[in-house]
Amino acid sequence: MDRRDSRMEWPRNRIFSIAVIAWLLFGTSILAQSTKSDALYDETYRPQYHFTPAKNWMNDPNGPIYYKDEYHLFFQYNPFGNVWGHMSWGHAVSRDLVHWQHLPVAIPEENGIMIFSGSTVVDWHNSSGFCKEVSVAEPSCLVAIYTGHTEKLQTQNLAYSNDRGRTWTKYSGNPVLDLHMQDFRDPKVFWHEPSHKWVMVAALPTLHKVRFFGSTDLKHWSTLSDFGPAGGTAGVWECPDLFPLPVEGEGGQTRWVLSINLNPGGLAGGSGDQYFVGQFDGATFVNANPAEQVLWADYGKDFYASTSFSNILATDGRRIWLGWLLNWEYAGKVPTFPWRGVQSIPRALSLKQFPEGIRLVQSPAKELETLRQDHVSLGEQDIAAANGALLAKRVRGDALEIIAELDSGNSAEAGIRVRKGKDEATTIGVDWVKQELFVDRTRSGNIAFDEKFPGRHAGPLLPAGGKRVKLHIFVDRSSVEVFVNDGSTVISDALFPSRDSQDIELYSKNGEARIVKLEVWNLQSAWR
Ligand code: FRU
Repeated sequence: MDRRDSRMEWPRNRIFSIAVIAWLLFGTSILAQSTKSDALYDETYRPQYHFTPAKNWMNDPNGPIYYKDEYHLFFQYNPFGNVWGHMSWGHAVSRDLVHWQHLPVAIPEENGIMIFSGSTVVDWHNSSGFCKEVSVAEPSCLVAIYTGHTEKLQTQNLAYSNDRGRTWTKYSGNPVLDLHMQDFRDPKVFWHEPSHKWVMVAALPTLHKVRFFGSTDLKHWSTLSDFGPAGGTAGVWECPDLFPLPVEGEGGQTRWVLSINLNPGGLAGGSGDQYFVGQFDGATFVNANPAEQVLWADYGKDFYASTSFSNILATDGRRIWLGWLLNWEYAGKVPTFPWRGVQSIPRALSLKQFPEGIRLVQSPAKELETLRQDHVSLGEQDIAAANGALLAKRVRGDALEIIAELDSGNSAEAGIRVRKGKDEATTIGVDWVKQELFVDRTRSGNIAFDEKFPGRHAGPLLPAGGKRVKLHIFVDRSSVEVFVNDGSTVISDALFPSRDSQDIELYSKNGEARIVKLEVWNLQSAWR
């Protein structure tokens, strides 16, 4: 953890003291207000349908899992302040992936050992011996596999729960995997049925490698193989994930996706999520692409530490993941209080064959549709007419879902501005000439807290060459996520606009574009 410790050591302590004083001065009054006017979860930048802790610092999502009719989300959490530190696993549960109920810290820092990122599994057949026999037919329990962190050493450890995740016990035999390394973290564990064993993939961050391990009881692990260096190596490798997905349009063929987060060295600067496509036989991952090729899961600046839910697949066939909607470059400075940190919306994953190759495709989890409220739908027309209709119908909001199908006409660029107000807006545009989609947040509102925050982030239109594009946009109080052409390109960016910047407006440049279709929904808050 050289990176974080050198960068955050002194400010962490100082900011922590400032945060404590600020909390004593203002936090209590915010709570007092909240009983009157429900101010908590109604703050200017408070995401209305993205997951945030009520207060304090959050980074990576950890160990998301579906178990006994509940989705569990754990996350890197500082129970004591609004800056990184005292890392523990925060916890929330949901019945629908949209409405979350906060639970007490699941796995706390203890004896100077912080609880870093990791995963959870359902131990269906009590392979670990941790499960109390709830019933002979189903002696299952939840097991968390996490990194224990001290300044000098990172090891892999277990904790287990026999009460649907409500309380956790750290395994007395911890650690279960110790390579005597300072950087060895973020274990993702899953059951590999063909070889009948648990497989762990964990990062050797500074070596730009991930290592695979196998186990039959989650307690004893043996090395299977290494992957890397490959792809992007300009920063440390963190938070790997590995899962199979069918390739759309290829008659049910399966490829394995190995997602590896990179910090710094992301495409847009700072933290970024890259992935590899290939085969995994239970021991070795073979990359199907040239070693130097980099594929990005997200072309925005704020999607990191992604991790997929365990065990949903068994229930409904979907592979769903989410990521931290921030970037280590400025996460410690974003102007939110009393919390800091937000998770992306959950996204269902698939693979699709394009002329450019097989690519990861992400689509917003369908459960989000339950938040849809007022709906406006416009058919084919020119941009000016559509803007007139939006004004007349007073279409605006700070929590919106927008589906916009655009036809380039003879324009060079077209798109939509969101969170628009006096002197500010965030532009989501299509450059038809470069065949790219971009999000420009250089004038999105509060950008001054860090010089690396403002910027324009672009990704390719897939397949290239089209004159039409479909944008599926999720706007919230402090973010925008854009799924282009059914999620073949995704751009996720944090934003900090003024509270009343809520207009939307279509535009085209150097010629006239048309809308083929425009749909807008106001999304209701998931926190009321
Ligand atoms: C990724 C990360 C992980 C680590 C955690 C610590 O953002 O650096 O590698 O486990 O955050 O909070």
